[in-house]
Amino acid sequence: MKRIEIEGGHTLTGEIKISGAKNSAVALVPASILSDSIVKIENAPNISDIDALEEILEYLGASFKKEGSLITIDPSTIENKEIPEAISVKLRASYYFMAALLGKYRHVEMYFPGGCNIGSRPIDQTLKAFEELNAKVENIGNKYIISAERLIGGHIYLDMPSVGATINTMLAATLAVGTTILENAAKEPEIVDVATFLNNMGAKITGAGTSVIKIEGVQKLNGCYTEVIPDRIEAGTYVIAGALLGENLKITNIIPEHIKSLTSKLEQMGADMTIGNDYITINKIENIKPTNIKTLGYPGFPTDLQQPMTVLLSLSDGISYLEETIYENRFQNVPYLNMMGANIEISGQKIKINGVKKLYGKDVLATDLRAGACMLLAGLVANGITRITQVEHLLRGYENVIEKLVAVGAKIKLEEI
Ligand code: EPU
Repeated sequence: MKRIEIEGGHTLTGEIKISGAKNSAVALVPASILSDSIVKIENAPNISDIDALEEILEYLGASFKKEGSLITIDPSTIENKEIPEAISVKLRASYYFMAALLGKYRHVEMYFPGGCNIGSRPIDQTLKAFEELNAKVENIGNKYIISAERLIGGHIYLDMPSVGATINTMLAATLAVGTTILENAAKEPEIVDVATFLNNMGAKITGAGTSVIKIEGVQKLNGCYTEVIPDRIEAGTYVIAGALLGENLKITNIIPEHIKSLTSKLEQMGADMTIGNDYITINKIENIKPTNIKTLGYPGFPTDLQQPMTVLLSLSDGISYLEETIYENRFQNVPYLNMMGANIEISGQKIKINGVKKLYGKDVLATDLRAGACMLLAGLVANGITRITQVEHLLRGYENVIEKLVAVGAKIKLEEI
């Protein structure tokens, strides 16, 4: 087991370079198997979620090579076989293999995916999309057997703009016969990244980034080179760290447009920021103004920054309200923040945050990935020592988090316990 120990209260100054987006890279790696030849993915983050996908690819017989941030995948030797449950439960993104294998071989057998325990996270929209594309879905316990004689373009309307169902539909429909129209699609930048990648391989996808995506089926896809977009959630997490403790803390290699919902909130809260083309420089907010936040799909305020943001709201000068609309169980960080001196009341999907003057170091848990980011920020700003266990969750999504923070002045270390 791994644990992070933080001595709180140190100013953060210098530069933090943001890595490639986890939620894009974890789709690009499975998507690569749709290609008939070698695919190169640059700016891939070095995180354990990518290691789990490597395990699946190698299990299927593909070659996977990682040199720094460059991943090279040769899918030409893949054999389509059942992916064991023990591997697919390691992460949510394993179900991108469902769509990619179905798209390429018109048959897939695999299990319900894993992922953070932050809500029920059904996959009904993905399965509905497969059926609209002429596939038959059989479900035995946790296992899904999905096959189609031919995948045929269809008209799909998602009940909610699901990121996973949008990506899965693009993956499955790219090699289908005819045209697919996907309505009420998710608009996240990671979806645009996946569509661009598929188009670079020869797909014909238009409209990604809007709520209507058109996918004209093509017969084959070839290898290509792509660069993963910067991770907007990692960027947002460090920008919030700057609002808590920064002295000219410069967050670089980012697309500021992707975190506008965050920066506009920070401006309301009194942040002193310079927003450049690909960086944000930020200083500690001296008197944090309270504000209200509701999580929404892109371009709204991201659910993945909701938990990190509660640290800043906890230290504001007044009362803030935060409503989580995407997941039913994403306040597991709150009891731990309260242990550290925060004053937060949970009421269903809403929390009321009564601002306090200080947080105090305690022994806490990272119950999930972004709860881990919340505890990390709380530990950085708290008085005294914070120890966070179950940090494996955090390490799944933040590349070199310890090194990046130490380099800007944090007193933080990772221990094996
Ligand atoms: N939903 C359904 N049925 C479906 C699909 C989704 O009811 O078939 C519901 C979910 O239960 C949830 C909501 O719709 O309440 C949104 O789910 P979505 O499918 O958009 O999320 P996801 O694809 O499972 C991705 C990210 C999440 C991020 C969400 C929302 C990956 C691997 N995961 O999840 O990232 O929170 O989009 O932006 O891309 C994280 O990085 O910490 C994380 C959880």
